[in-house]
Amino acid sequence: MPKIIFQHPDFEEFEVYAPATSHKRTVLSLAQEYKVPIMFDCQDGECGSCVVHVTDINGGPTHMGEHMTEKEKTVLREIGKISKDELEKIVVNDMASEWRLACQMIVRDEDIRITYEAAQ
Ligand code: FES
Repeated sequence: MPKIIFQHPDFEEFEVYAPATSHKRTVLSLAQEYKVPIMFDCQDGECGSCVVHVTDINGGPTHMGEHMTEKEKTVLREIGKISKDELEKIVVNDMASEWRLACQMIVRDEDIRITYEAAQ
């Protein structure tokens, strides 16, 4: 059961244990279920408002592979979180991106820490 810590500098941490049945759920839907005040709008990978910073539970890189759709990659580039060169490196080396869209990121079997922007 992966542990997900949601953190924001102005709020207490939310520690969530994703149920085994959550393997097809997005980080955003899990955050909503646990009342984490994460910012979002379209919920369809278009607006970029749900962008989150993702690390392993200790703050290092995650071990998950790239697993991003072209739409998510495009939005992350458009909002300036990932450069073209960084994106190429991520894809070529099957690395995890430290920036993701919470509405597109599927919960996987790894303990992670997510830093988010809060909803207004
Ligand atoms: Fe719009 Fe996630 S809510 S990209």
